[in-house]
Amino acid sequence: MSENSQFINLLDLNDHPVSWWNKLLELGHIIKKYPQNYAKACEGKIMGTLFYEPSTRTQMSFQTAMLRLGGTIIGFDNPATSSVAKGENIKDTTKIVSGYADIMVMRHPVEGSVKAAALTAECPVINAGDGGHLHPTQTLTDLFTLKEEKGTLENLTIGFCGDLKNGRTVHSLIKAMSCYKGSRFVLISTKELKIPNYIRDMLTASGIPFKEVTSLDDAIENLDVLYMTRIQRERFGSEEEYNAQKGCYILDREKMKKAREDMIVLHPLPRVDEIAVEVDSDKRAMYFEQAKYGMYIRMALILTILRGDGEAPRLIKGRERRHFTCSNPACITHREKYLPHLFEGSGDILICEYCDNRTLI
Ligand code: NCD
Repeated sequence: MSENSQFINLLDLNDHPVSWWNKLLELGHIIKKYPQNYAKACEGKIMGTLFYEPSTRTQMSFQTAMLRLGGTIIGFDNPATSSVAKGENIKDTTKIVSGYADIMVMRHPVEGSVKAAALTAECPVINAGDGGHLHPTQTLTDLFTLKEEKGTLENLTIGFCGDLKNGRTVHSLIKAMSCYKGSRFVLISTKELKIPNYIRDMLTASGIPFKEVTSLDDAIENLDVLYMTRIQRERFGSEEEYNAQKGCYILDREKMKKAREDMIVLHPLPRVDEIAVEVDSDKRAMYFEQAKYGMYIRMALILTILRGDGEAPRLIKGRERRHFTCSNPACITHREKYLPHLFEGSGDILICEYCDNRTLI
């Protein structure tokens, strides 16, 4: 393990400068326009996809992206059919696969797990979703959709609605849009499903305007973008808790009447019941296009990383604290005991480098 991996990993988009994201968006635009020019760009390269958690779009758009670049793919989408079922730890599985592949894409249900893999991987690692924590390539998809459809990433008022507590795509997109001028956020959720404190603290510290409200009806008329999310059933402690929240927000034709003509509706998908099917034919419904944009931006990402364009971000920003443990029970350090306990910060607050949880000491 070294502090500075030589690889251009994508664990958290904010590890990279905004100029790098903008270059990806430009390359994505060109690839979308002239895909045939990139049909052999990654010939001879192999991508490993390790999906420990169900996925349709993210997995298939990554795989299609690599195939459309002329590369090939290996991997699993069901850990039960790999040695994971025999009890193999993340470190061993990912070390082996990263020795076979040129680039590795990983999704895992536990927060900070992809960072844990990157500590010992032998190729660049891309986070395709780590528990309720982050999902940076969905964010690239969202940024790309916004740029292509709204023409700019500046001065946008974005409403996020649904499970803001567990929705990793929400956390990643708020962090990313906070880096663009004039962003304003309207956070629409029940009190049980509000955004995590670390996101609220980040917004407050950066002076970014945001409000937390409970009514979608009241909020919808002032939005440039409405980002709907499903209630994340699999991240609830019990079925009862989930049942108390399910169906709490449903976007339908009636509510769309109140929205501006140029507002767009995004959703990372899959949808459950939070957008009525009748909304699909509204020209402002952009979620199916969004899924397709995801393939082009992932092509741009794979190509950029394999070409080595950009700086390798620091893998470890703070230091190991052997006698201190992350207070987030969902953090990977509680499952994989061999992991070094890495924390940033000093003074009263320590920030876990795997899951971003803040602990007061
Ligand atoms: C999202 C995810 O996996 O976090 N889906 C996706 O990547 N397209 C959203 C979700 O599962 O609700």
